[in-house]
Amino acid sequence: MSQRNLFVTTALPYANGAFHIGHIMEYIQADIWVRHERMSGNRVHFVGADDVHGAPIMIAAQKRGITPQAFVAEIAAGRKQYLDGFHISFDHWHSTDAPENHELSQEVYRRLKAAGLIYTKEIEQFYDTSKNMFLADRFIKGTCPRCGAPDQYGDNCEKCSAVYSPTEVVNPYSTLSGTTPVLKKSTHYFFRLSDPKCVEFLRAWTQGNGRDGQPRVQAEVLAKDSEWLGPDGNLADWDISRDEPYFGIAIPDAPGKYFYVWLDAPVGYYASFKAYCEKNGLNFEEELQKENTEQIHFIGKDIIYFHTLFWPAMLHFSGKPFRVPDHVNVHGFMTVNGQKMSKSRGTGISPLQYLELGMNAEWLRYYLAAKMNSRVEDVDFTKSDFAQRVNSDLIGKYVNIASRSAGFIVKKFGGKIADDAMNDPILTAIRARAAEVRECYELREYARAMRIVMELADTINEFVDREKPWELSKDPARAADLQRVSSIALEGFRMLTLMLKPVLPATAERVEAFLSIAPMNWDDMDKPLSSANLVQPFKHLMQRVDMEKQLDVLVPEKAPEPEPVLPGGEAIAPECTIDDFTKCDLRVAKIVRCQAVEGSTKLLQLTLDVGEGRERNVFSGIQSAYKPEDIEGRLVIMIANLAPRKMRFGVSEGMVLCASDAKDKGLGLFLLSPDCGAVPGMRIR
Ligand code: MSP
Ligand code: ZN
Repeated sequence: MSQRNLFVTTALPYANGAFHIGHIMEYIQADIWVRHERMSGNRVHFVGADDVHGAPIMIAAQKRGITPQAFVAEIAAGRKQYLDGFHISFDHWHSTDAPENHELSQEVYRRLKAAGLIYTKEIEQFYDTSKNMFLADRFIKGTCPRCGAPDQYGDNCEKCSAVYSPTEVVNPYSTLSGTTPVLKKSTHYFFRLSDPKCVEFLRAWTQGNGRDGQPRVQAEVLAKDSEWLGPDGNLADWDISRDEPYFGIAIPDAPGKYFYVWLDAPVGYYASFKAYCEKNGLNFEEELQKENTEQIHFIGKDIIYFHTLFWPAMLHFSGKPFRVPDHVNVHGFMTVNGQKMSKSRGTGISPLQYLELGMNAEWLRYYLAAKMNSRVEDVDFTKSDFAQRVNSDLIGKYVNIASRSAGFIVKKFGGKIADDAMNDPILTAIRARAAEVRECYELREYARAMRIVMELADTINEFVDREKPWELSKDPARAADLQRVSSIALEGFRMLTLMLKPVLPATAERVEAFLSIAPMNWDDMDKPLSSANLVQPFKHLMQRVDMEKQLDVLVPEKAPEPEPVLPGGEAIAPECTIDDFTKCDLRVAKIVRCQAVEGSTKLLQLTLDVGEGRERNVFSGIQSAYKPEDIEGRLVIMIANLAPRKMRFGVSEGMVLCASDAKDKGLGLFLLSPDCGAVPGMRIR
């Protein structure tokens, strides 16, 4: 087959937090495939980006008193350590707020509009009058209209599982301000997915094949899509606009209107690819239009609708240079001890902690590869299964071969392989399975590939067991046999390393160094070791998983029962009058600067702006709860007329207010902040 030009992406993670293990699983799946393609001599452009727009990120930034741009920049800065740590070989990482994405998203919109697929309609929605913004369903809570349970979300009830519309909720309130929202009209923009030409196109697209002749989507995904597309095509139109204030991309010629984040997010794939092309001297439009180009997305099962209906329709009706995806490859979810991951329940695995505990990233890559196939199935992580698979397969079978053979070649034969042993039938038999392994990678049947490789490792180990090199080494007359047996085992090891290279890139690199060979590609399968390349002294390739303690930290056996968080019976202080209260002049203040106090383990030194045209110095005992750099720029509440107090470190001109529990149960300290919109100097009354 001629060289393929592969534009490959993974889903763009929301920039509202650090990567979790589910993200890493997706990247490992895609990265294995990408490395396999590169080893096949194909051209790969593997790009990702942060998905930064939308109301939740805007609000999270407001809560921190920083701009959404600053908020997502912080998240972006944390990405590299994960990607490098797990050997994820993206060619480029971008952001959906980059200029390329503004341009491309607006271009897609203009094209869809010209194709007659955009219309406007007035809709009625809940509006928060204190925040001056429309409320997405997730920001509305109230009493369930079916069962009367209080504090249920705006669109479904966790008590009785009812699904309803936010307007049906009894006594609704805004979770942003606590106020009662009002219904307000607004014009929204819609993408006419119900148009017969859309439905017709999507039927054909979902049932078709990619350029490689494989079905575009997996059978399970096609079944879902067909259900959604229905026998008579009843797709609902898609609301693609949001009203200001919104962190997003402006809709052209529509003041105050922004694209709903799910419109510009997938366009972010193109934006990232475009920026990457520009960085690498490639012509973006030409790359997309090349005869041999394929566009391939890796995603999880929760976002099938967006990627196999909205997205192909957006692309198809936008025309060139946009192109429809060749494949949308969907994976299941990662679970831990059979449970969905949840931060609040303490289930799940922190990928950063995994690395910081000194666990080998390739253990996880191998473990996931050994459990993943091309179907939409969940993958469960358990400690014992993890340790057992890595130890018995990777170390016990694979690494063991090198440990048993390399030493003899180095010590007894000056690092020289026996050239005439390279055609041994055992090696020919292994070589003959390589095509099958490659095909498994191609089809994302990694578990099957790993099974074949481990079977082959068994064959080699059985051969070594039969030939007993450790006995041969005692008999100088049998030196030639010893060299032959060890050479066969090492060449077998080289081939297994090649077969595992997409999964274990760092190990493969070390093996290439110790065998003195160039970086291997699939073509090197039938280029055996030779006496021209000296085998170097064997170094440790990989340790066993011998980390009971670390694994216990990483994966608690059972989700810990959430501690009852009761601030606990602190008695209410004796009555005071309103005059007592007004004696305290409470003000909104901004933390202009914050630094640690040398010689103090409790205090932070704050420089505050209270709107007086001068700065104040305040020492605050919050070092245990906050890092200085995290609270700079934040708005807090302070007592502005407290008598100045001389301390060992200087004069404190006031006090900032914190919530805390009386008995110091370790519940922590919490700075108070005003709602957004407040400015330094405002009085609290
Ligand atoms: N921002 C959207 C995607 C936009 S793509 C144009 C999003 N972000 S996400 O951060 O919530 O999820 C990113 C990817 O991680 C998705 O493919 C999602 O399916 C995947 N996963 C989220 N939880 C997961 C697991 N527990 N296991 C495996 N993958 C998981 O959705
Ligand atoms: Zn209910």
